[in-house]
Amino acid sequence: MARIDHRQTRRDYRRGQLRRANLAANPMDQLATWLADAQDIDHPEPTAMILATVGSDGQPAVRAVLLKHLDDEGPCWYTDSRSLKGQQLAVNPKASILFYWPELERQVRLDGLVRMLEPELADEYFASRPLGSRYAAATSHQSQPIDSREELERRLEAVRARHPDGNVLRPPTWIGYRLEPTLFQFWQGRENRLHDRFQYTREDGVWTITRLMP
Ligand SMILES: Cc1cc2nc3c(=O)[nH]c(=O)nc-3n(C[C@H](O)[C@H](O)[C@H](O)COP(=O)(O)O)c2cc1C
Repeated sequence: MARIDHRQTRRDYRRGQLRRANLAANPMDQLATWLADAQDIDHPEPTAMILATVGSDGQPAVRAVLLKHLDDEGPCWYTDSRSLKGQQLAVNPKASILFYWPELERQVRLDGLVRMLEPELADEYFASRPLGSRYAAATSHQSQPIDSREELERRLEAVRARHPDGNVLRPPTWIGYRLEPTLFQFWQGRENRLHDRFQYTREDGVWTITRLMP
């Protein structure tokens, strides 16, 4: 017997449609438009993206990270390079990213190669973060085990005591990454599961758009 049974839970997607004529020639522009649409509807976290990485054992791992900036090269985020994702990216720089905005009945997938951002960008963004977040970044060795919440808070207090003036420096391991996409898929939910999907692939710097069956 299923513990939870959602076989009869469904909603129809009717909010919009995606036509080739309305697609931007450059998928980064299309992504920027959809991000702006998600911001316009007061989505609680329009810039949250699911990042999938694969280490040397071939086991994929996913987690949410926040998009911090998007440029012509791709979406950028910040994290601890010692984390699981950082370790996996060090051995296999390929990743896949998913944005999902349920209110808009849309998802976007990006595949590509990940590169570290220049440390100056991490310095600049780190310095702009709230003090509490800077203390936390200096406290946490992301993805490593710790005995208890109390131990974590003791470590935080020790960092605070070392930097009572709030002048906490960016740990060199706290850095930015950018995914340079070679593939995009834009998905707009449609009635009766006959969704619209368009894929962009790049060859010799030119993006080709292909409609995919849902
Ligand atoms: C909405 C949301 C946003 C997040 N944003 C970030 C982020 O920008 N950077 C980050 O390092 N972790 C972020 N996290 C935490 C990650 O999902 C993850 O737990 C952490 O990075 C460790 O992942 P790893 O062990 O797979 O490397 C976020 C979590 C959520 C739910």
